[in-house]
Amino acid sequence: MRSYSIAVIPGDGIGKEVMAAAMPVLEAAGAGHGFSLEATHLPWSGEYYARHGEMMPADGLQTLTRFQAIYLGAIGDPRVVPDHVALHTMLLEIRRRFQQYVNVRPHRVLAGVRSPLRDGQFDILCIRENSEGEYVGAGGRAHVGTADEVVVETSIFTRRGVERVVRYAFEQARARSRRLAVATKSNAQKHSMVFWDEVAAAVAREYPDVETTMYHVDALCARFITHPASVDVVVASNLFGDILTDVGAAIQGGLGFAASGNIDPTRTYPSMFEPVHGSAPDIAGRGIANPCATIWAGAMMLEHLGEREAAAAVMDALETVTDAGEARTPDMGGSGTTEEMGAAVVAALRRA
Ligand code: NAD
Ligand code: IPM
Ligand code: MN
Repeated sequence: MRSYSIAVIPGDGIGKEVMAAAMPVLEAAGAGHGFSLEATHLPWSGEYYARHGEMMPADGLQTLTRFQAIYLGAIGDPRVVPDHVALHTMLLEIRRRFQQYVNVRPHRVLAGVRSPLRDGQFDILCIRENSEGEYVGAGGRAHVGTADEVVVETSIFTRRGVERVVRYAFEQARARSRRLAVATKSNAQKHSMVFWDEVAAAVAREYPDVETTMYHVDALCARFITHPASVDVVVASNLFGDILTDVGAAIQGGLGFAASGNIDPTRTYPSMFEPVHGSAPDIAGRGIANPCATIWAGAMMLEHLGEREAAAAVMDALETVTDAGEARTPDMGGSGTTEEMGAAVVAALRRA
């Protein structure tokens, strides 16, 4: 039987809850399609930080290289560890060091799910730069806490970094509707975003079959809401992609639905799959988080591992459940639990 070694990092808050609901779905998919998942649970989290003073062990990245993929719930427990410390020493460190330079985030409304928009007919694929830009962490503070305090946080963009993600997005566009939206802000950011425009225009010449539209990111945010059907593949910098994809999540019915794959297209390192949402301290511990995003991210992981049919079966089962309105969690207007929703998807998979 085929077998895949997966590092599972449930993390904090609802990360643990959605992961507990999603893993049985992937295991059931494996059982139905002739493979098993050898899951190793890594307890890296705020709780781990409280005990060890770090988010993951010093050899954490080395440990992760042994796996074929990483499946992550959510990180963040501001009661124990400042967010920027937790995220920069773990989640963002994994994305950067494992050259997961593409963050793929699909946005569409699952069958039976209500979008806040009048017309939920859209299918957007965001390609977010995931290894540099606004997230490099370059900068510093001087004269801290005084009236003379100075703060610098510098975005760093490289030609290699921008070109490779733009090219990836063009490939996606070519495989889909042949439309690509490039989100920049070159009217204000006269160095970095003019550079993004130039790189996109240069790569566009290699893809004459793809219709390329340049947008200012603020206008594209609005377009997601007013004309989402006019948008297909989107490419954006790290921070712009972060913001656009929360808008994408909102229009697809909420953060409980938005899935994400942090991809190293060269497959040198394991790729990492996670929901877009965070640890949601406001609802954590109540068992009511929506596990759909995590299940969807799990399907993306199976696809990445080459289990296309199992991935499709997971998505079919998920949509069968959402369409039937089974076990709806409160964000979907129901009174179901995370566990019930996960169990319903497992049952739908077994029936199929
Ligand atoms: P969040 O995504 O955790 O929550 C935003 C809102 O969406 C909350 O009201 C929450 O209840 C709701 N929500 C999110 N996921 C949901 C789900 N599955 N089902 C139902 N409702 C859901 O964002 P935040 O509040 O800005 O951040 C909370 C913590 O998570 C912070 O520590 C933050 O840094 C961290 N965070 C981590 C990740 C990650 O690990 N990838 C992503 C985003 C935020
Ligand atoms: C996401 C999250 C992260 C990001 C945070 C937690 C650093 O918001 O995955 O969208 O900004 O990339
Ligand atoms: Mn985000």
